[in-house]
Amino acid sequence: MSKTLVTLAIACAAGALGLVAVNSQAAPAGPSPDEVIAARQASFDMSAATFGGMSHAAEAPDAEAKKFGFQANALAKWAKVLPTLFPAGTGPGGAAKTAALPTIWSDRAGFDKAAGDYAAATAKLLELSKANDTPGFKAQLGEVNKACAACHGAYRAK
Ligand code: HEC
Repeated sequence: MSKTLVTLAIACAAGALGLVAVNSQAAPAGPSPDEVIAARQASFDMSAATFGGMSHAAEAPDAEAKKFGFQANALAKWAKVLPTLFPAGTGPGGAAKTAALPTIWSDRAGFDKAAGDYAAATAKLLELSKANDTPGFKAQLGEVNKACAACHGAYRAK
């Protein structure tokens, strides 16, 4: 075996050992159901603050859609991961108070569709901000609001 090949073989063996060592480690513990509920409620509060602030600011006579890129992007990012914060076991009945209705889990396809509609509405909002289409952006704020309300109507306790 050439020197290079020996070096390579040792490197491979070390790499394989490293892999075994990583795999044998226990998976990091994820957040508890109560922590997941707290995280999503905080995210909803922050998205409400973002959405409300943006809607109010967009009413100013000199408002320009391109100034709301950060906010629109934040909502679009949150919309994409929203369903992941509703894993099984985080419905009502646990220690944490939640307004999530059991229908989220019994009608998962419907909930995912509502989240998908919201994600599409916020993605379009971001596009309109990038294009600096202010009238279109303002109209789209109404569509985003409808997507919030549609999901709340079906999947959130009054
Ligand atoms: C796909 C469904 C869905 C969409 C879309 C959605 N929400 Fe919600 N929202 C919920 C559910 C379910 C809860 C209850 C969460 C809980 O209590 O665990 C909630 C809770 C909230 C809360 C209360 C959080 C707390 O502190 O308890 C606020 C505020 C809120 N949403 C605002 C919004 C706004 C604003 C939008 C749109 C910009 C929006 N939501 C879009 C499903 C949705």
